[in-house]
Amino acid sequence: MSLTAFENARPEVAIVLGSGLGEVAESLGIEAELSYAEVPGLTASTVPGHAGRFVLTQVKNRPVVVAQGRRHLYEGLSAYEVTAGIRFLHSLGVKELILTNAAGAINAGFGVGDLMLITDHLNLLGTSPLLGGPNFHDMSAVYDPAWREAFLQAATQLDLTLHQGVYAATLGPQYETPAEIRMMRTLGADAVGMSTVPEVIQARALGMRVAGISMLTNWAAGLKDQTLHHAEVVSVGQSAGANLTRLLKSVL
Ligand code: 6GU
Repeated sequence: MSLTAFENARPEVAIVLGSGLGEVAESLGIEAELSYAEVPGLTASTVPGHAGRFVLTQVKNRPVVVAQGRRHLYEGLSAYEVTAGIRFLHSLGVKELILTNAAGAINAGFGVGDLMLITDHLNLLGTSPLLGGPNFHDMSAVYDPAWREAFLQAATQLDLTLHQGVYAATLGPQYETPAEIRMMRTLGADAVGMSTVPEVIQARALGMRVAGISMLTNWAAGLKDQTLHHAEVVSVGQSAGANLTRLLKSVL
């Protein structure tokens, strides 16, 4: 419907919002919107807390596309299918991509509601959006070091906690057992979630500059005496989303 508004704006920056972080889009202001159902290869998310649309906004007079809601492997889709939105953003001319997600904290030094800048990832999905090629893409500096430095400086200026750490991606849809979390901690993971990694791999293969931020919505299994609920993940995301909005506005 308003695809032409997105094309005409020539956006070079996009932000993908994770579970419960949808309000970040509203707080930035909406110039145009495009439902995922209107983009070939994309369909609306089936998960509560994910709206399923692209929003065109302006940050400091620059056009920015915000993807509100994403698809996940645990919905039964392939890694290629869940990254259709990234290929669409690339077709619009997007060159810089900020991916956000809701994640469980594995590092005991972190806190629920804190933000973590992703420095690297563990792909525990057993799949890739690049199956069938291109093969052997370099993954040694996936999360752009200069951009990470800019996020850290912005966080310091805003007096906001921004941890750094490794994000482990699991297939889901179930959360982990305490034994699985101990394994991931041993492997070097600081946070765990069910998204982002396929998108990052696709974006890097298309030559995009990538940054990733996790909102730590809960403790991973075994770290605290509690069980995990999706509603909690969404509600912490909503309340702590204000800090993420401040950080994004400052960096862009
Ligand atoms: Cl604890 N695990 C996974 N896989 N994803 C999450 C999570 C935990 N908390 C939020 N998302």
